[in-house]
Amino acid sequence: MASLRHAGGQSKIEQLWRQVMDTFKWATGGMVNFEEENFAVMKRQVDALTAEDISLEESLSEMRRHPGFRSEEAVGNIHICDSDIATMQVFVLHKNQQMPIHDHPQMIGILKVIKGCVRINSYTLKGYERKVAGGSILQTSKVTVEVCKGDPACILTPSERNFHSIIAVNGEAAFLDILSPPYFTRRPGQELNVCNYYREGGLAGGADAENLVRLEEIPPPEDYWTVKGEYKGPKIDQQFGITHHLRPSLVPPK
Ligand SMILES: [Fe+2]
Repeated sequence: MASLRHAGGQSKIEQLWRQVMDTFKWATGGMVNFEEENFAVMKRQVDALTAEDISLEESLSEMRRHPGFRSEEAVGNIHICDSDIATMQVFVLHKNQQMPIHDHPQMIGILKVIKGCVRINSYTLKGYERKVAGGSILQTSKVTVEVCKGDPACILTPSERNFHSIIAVNGEAAFLDILSPPYFTRRPGQELNVCNYYREGGLAGGADAENLVRLEEIPPPEDYWTVKGEYKGPKIDQQFGITHHLRPSLVPPK
């Protein structure tokens, strides 16, 4: 992968992962924090990332041999790396395929389209009509954007655009997804941040500049499943993270 390396020896994806590790820090109360300056550096690196930088097509050609992916039933998922504070992976959607509405409890997300175009419906929580495990009804403000390869990354935070659905438009699409902290992170004094799914339940009333939409929590949709692909891009040396971030159990096999 020499062609994907910079003169200094680090590939763009490895530089990005190092910046992710430098950016996100644990704060008191089990939350993740970051300095704006570090985040801005990371964002610029994400914005500049391309499918070629992670050898996406090499992963895809192997994934297309999987019946579930070839039949366009399953969403593709390529894990790149993770630590106890962040994960970095790629999702691949077939034309018109949709990742159902889901949340990212108390998490920060960066989504960068690296192939094709997607339509993202983002929902910002405004309040609860009902809050019960497995059956909550939420009032949200909805915004829809279309984002293509070459466009800047989209950001979600614990309070802004934390819920979304993603649909591939005009053909196959792929996006890089950085999440901090990862799902299922045990943090003192915090609920486990599981991924919950929702469907739109109509307009939530009111007049609307704010486009208020009701979300109803649903069980994980049975027709949404993923096929795992192998990351074929430049090797990322994760050793640097072990002392302060990386759980040995999460080191991906070499
Ligand atoms: Fe998401």
